[in-house]
Amino acid sequence: MTQRTLSIVKPDAVAANAVGAILGLCEEGGLRVMATKMIHMSKAEAEGFYAVHSDKPFFGSLTDFMSEGPVVVSVLEGDNAVERYRGLLGATNPADAPEGSVRQLFGTSIERNAAHGSDAPETAVAEISYFFNALEIVRR
Ligand code: CMP
Repeated sequence: MTQRTLSIVKPDAVAANAVGAILGLCEEGGLRVMATKMIHMSKAEAEGFYAVHSDKPFFGSLTDFMSEGPVVVSVLEGDNAVERYRGLLGATNPADAPEGSVRQLFGTSIERNAAHGSDAPETAVAEISYFFNALEIVRR
Protein backbone atom coordinates (compact mmCIF):
# COMPACT_ATOMS: atom_id res chain seq x y z
CA MET A 1 0.00 0.00 0.00
CA THR A 2 1.38 3.39 -0.99
CA GLN A 3 1.99 5.43 2.12
CA ARG A 4 3.85 8.53 3.26
CA THR A 5 6.24 9.09 6.11
CA LEU A 6 8.16 12.03 7.53
CA SER A 7 11.93 11.98 7.57
CA ILE A 8 14.18 14.36 9.49
CA VAL A 9 17.90 14.33 8.77
CA LYS A 10 19.03 15.57 12.16
CA PRO A 11 21.59 18.30 12.95
CA ASP A 12 24.43 15.80 13.52
CA ALA A 13 24.00 14.26 10.05
CA VAL A 14 23.55 17.65 8.34
CA ALA A 15 26.79 18.83 10.00
CA ALA A 16 28.50 15.63 8.82
CA ASN A 17 27.50 16.43 5.20
CA ALA A 18 25.42 13.24 5.04
CA VAL A 19 22.15 14.68 3.66
CA GLY A 20 22.69 13.37 0.13
CA ALA A 21 23.89 9.98 1.33
CA ILE A 22 20.82 9.51 3.57
CA LEU A 23 18.30 10.64 0.93
CA GLY A 24 20.18 8.40 -1.53
CA LEU A 25 19.66 5.39 0.75
CA CYS A 26 15.96 6.29 0.86
CA GLU A 27 15.73 6.37 -2.93
CA GLU A 28 17.71 3.14 -3.30
CA GLY A 29 15.40 1.63 -0.68
CA GLY A 30 12.27 2.26 -2.74
CA LEU A 31 11.10 5.61 -1.36
CA ARG A 32 10.40 8.74 -3.44
CA VAL A 33 11.05 12.26 -2.15
CA MET A 34 7.75 14.17 -2.50
CA ALA A 35 8.87 17.31 -0.63
CA THR A 36 12.03 18.42 1.14
CA LYS A 37 13.46 21.52 2.79
CA MET A 38 16.16 22.62 5.20
CA ILE A 39 15.03 24.45 8.31
CA HIS A 40 16.62 25.49 11.60
CA MET A 41 14.09 24.83 14.35
CA SER A 42 13.85 27.00 17.43
CA LYS A 43 13.86 25.22 20.78
CA ALA A 44 10.08 25.83 20.99
CA GLU A 45 9.52 24.34 17.52
CA ALA A 46 11.53 21.24 18.46
CA GLU A 47 9.52 20.97 21.70
CA GLY A 48 6.30 21.14 19.66
CA PHE A 49 7.43 18.38 17.33
CA TYR A 50 8.53 16.08 20.17
CA ALA A 51 5.66 17.02 22.55
CA VAL A 52 4.79 13.30 22.92
CA HIS A 53 8.16 12.89 24.70
CA SER A 54 7.76 15.93 27.00
CA ASP A 55 7.68 13.77 30.14
CA LYS A 56 10.85 11.85 29.23
CA PRO A 57 14.11 12.56 31.04
CA PHE A 58 15.86 13.20 27.72
CA PHE A 59 13.32 15.80 26.47
CA GLY A 60 15.43 18.87 27.29
CA SER A 61 18.59 17.43 25.82
CA LEU A 62 16.78 16.10 22.72
CA THR A 63 15.17 19.47 21.95
CA ASP A 64 18.48 21.30 22.54
CA PHE A 65 20.09 18.92 20.02
CA MET A 66 17.30 19.23 17.46
CA SER A 67 17.56 23.03 17.56
CA GLU A 68 21.37 23.27 17.57
CA GLY A 69 21.60 23.48 13.76
CA PRO A 70 19.67 22.96 10.53
CA VAL A 71 17.76 19.78 9.71
CA VAL A 72 16.37 18.47 6.41
CA VAL A 73 12.72 17.48 6.64
CA SER A 74 11.26 15.38 3.82
CA VAL A 75 8.04 13.65 2.86
CA LEU A 76 8.87 10.16 1.58
CA GLU A 77 6.37 8.03 -0.30
CA GLY A 78 6.40 4.38 -1.25
CA ASP A 79 4.97 0.97 -0.57
CA ASN A 80 4.63 0.55 3.18
CA ALA A 81 6.72 3.74 3.61
CA VAL A 82 6.55 3.98 7.41
CA GLU A 83 7.95 0.50 8.04
CA ARG A 84 10.22 0.65 4.99
CA TYR A 85 11.92 3.81 6.24
CA ARG A 86 12.18 2.54 9.80
CA GLY A 87 13.92 -0.52 8.39
CA LEU A 88 16.37 1.66 6.48
CA LEU A 89 17.04 3.69 9.65
CA GLY A 90 17.71 0.75 11.97
CA ALA A 91 17.23 0.75 15.75
CA THR A 92 16.98 4.05 17.67
CA ASN A 93 20.34 3.29 19.28
CA PRO A 94 23.01 3.20 16.53
CA ALA A 95 24.82 0.53 18.55
CA ASP A 96 21.89 -1.81 17.87
CA ALA A 97 21.33 -0.80 14.22
CA PRO A 98 22.25 -3.27 11.49
CA GLU A 99 25.27 -2.91 9.23
CA GLY A 100 24.58 -0.47 6.41
CA SER A 101 21.56 1.17 8.07
CA VAL A 102 21.34 4.97 8.29
CA ARG A 103 21.84 5.06 12.06
CA GLN A 104 24.70 2.55 12.03
CA LEU A 105 26.44 4.55 9.30
CA PHE A 106 25.81 8.09 10.55
CA GLY A 107 24.52 7.99 14.16
CA THR A 108 26.82 8.33 17.16
CA SER A 109 24.52 7.89 20.19
CA ILE A 110 20.93 7.05 21.08
CA GLU A 111 20.15 10.78 20.95
CA ARG A 112 22.45 11.85 18.09
CA ASN A 113 21.11 9.13 15.82
CA ALA A 114 21.25 10.91 12.44
CA ALA A 115 17.60 10.70 11.36
CA HIS A 116 13.99 10.42 12.48
CA GLY A 117 11.14 8.52 10.83
CA SER A 118 7.45 8.47 11.79
CA ASP A 119 6.47 5.44 13.88
CA ALA A 120 2.98 4.83 12.41
CA PRO A 121 0.84 6.01 9.46
CA GLU A 122 -1.33 8.23 11.70
CA THR A 123 1.77 9.77 13.28
CA ALA A 124 3.15 10.38 9.78
CA VAL A 125 0.07 12.43 8.81
CA ALA A 126 0.44 14.61 11.91
CA GLU A 127 4.22 14.95 11.55
CA ILE A 128 4.02 15.84 7.84
CA SER A 129 1.48 18.57 8.55
CA TYR A 130 3.76 20.00 11.28
CA PHE A 131 6.29 20.96 8.58
CA PHE A 132 4.51 21.00 5.18
CA ASN A 133 1.31 22.44 3.76
CA ALA A 134 -0.53 20.81 0.84
CA LEU A 135 1.04 23.14 -1.76
CA GLU A 136 4.55 22.07 -0.76
CA ILE A 137 4.02 18.36 -1.49
CA VAL A 138 4.08 17.26 -5.12
CA ARG A 139 1.54 14.91 -6.59
CA ARG A 140 2.88 12.52 -9.15
P1 CMP B 1 13.57 9.75 17.14
O1 CMP B 1 13.25 8.66 16.19
O2 CMP B 1 13.71 11.14 16.57
O3 CMP B 1 12.46 9.79 18.29
C1 CMP B 1 12.70 10.37 19.55
C2 CMP B 1 14.15 10.64 19.76
O4 CMP B 1 14.54 10.74 21.11
C3 CMP B 1 14.99 9.47 19.26
O5 CMP B 1 14.95 9.41 17.88
C4 CMP B 1 16.33 9.79 19.87
O6 CMP B 1 17.01 10.84 19.17
C5 CMP B 1 15.87 10.33 21.21
N1 CMP B 1 15.94 9.28 22.26
C6 CMP B 1 15.20 8.18 22.36
N2 CMP B 1 15.53 7.47 23.46
C7 CMP B 1 16.49 8.18 24.06
C8 CMP B 1 17.24 7.98 25.25
N3 CMP B 1 17.05 6.91 26.05
N4 CMP B 1 18.15 8.92 25.57
C9 CMP B 1 18.34 10.00 24.78
N5 CMP B 1 17.66 10.23 23.64
C10 CMP B 1 16.74 9.34 23.30
